Amino acid sequence: MGSQKSWIVEIQGRDRIEVSGEGAERRVHFIGCAKLLHFLESQKALHGKDPAQWPLPEGLDHHELLVKELILKLRGQWVHPYQEDEVCHCRTVSLQTVEEAILAGAHSPEAVSRWTSASTSCGTCRPDVARIIAFRLGTK
Ligand code: FES
Repeated sequence: MGSQKSWIVEIQGRDRIEVSGEGAERRVHFIGCAKLLHFLESQKALHGKDPAQWPLPEGLDHHELLVKELILKLRGQWVHPYQEDEVCHCRTVSLQTVEEAILAGAHSPEAVSRWTSASTSCGTCRPDVARIIAFRLGTK
């Protein structure tokens, strides 16, 4: 037997969705908040059990952004605009920290700076932060 492919999207320590298998064998496991639970259940009831077949959520709440990421990853359409692990080298702020701030509601460069300290020194990383926000929110 080969290894089973899986896809994971998460806000560490808060919400996590893991999908494994293909087609009829596809399985969705998650832990997280009631909003995420209800959203996943409603999408499954409306569009079937394979998230790859669901429409992309248009909302900007964390559960909608996570499910959008999941769907794009399942479809092979997740092409992130930033490829390094660290976004802000002055403050050593990782991509994961910036992403989690955006998912949690920091939807402007100023908010990401307040929540993470990214872009609070030389400012060189500010365009990257703005680009990551635009990608996440679909406003690029
Ligand atoms: S690289 Fe982010 S403030 Fe300098």
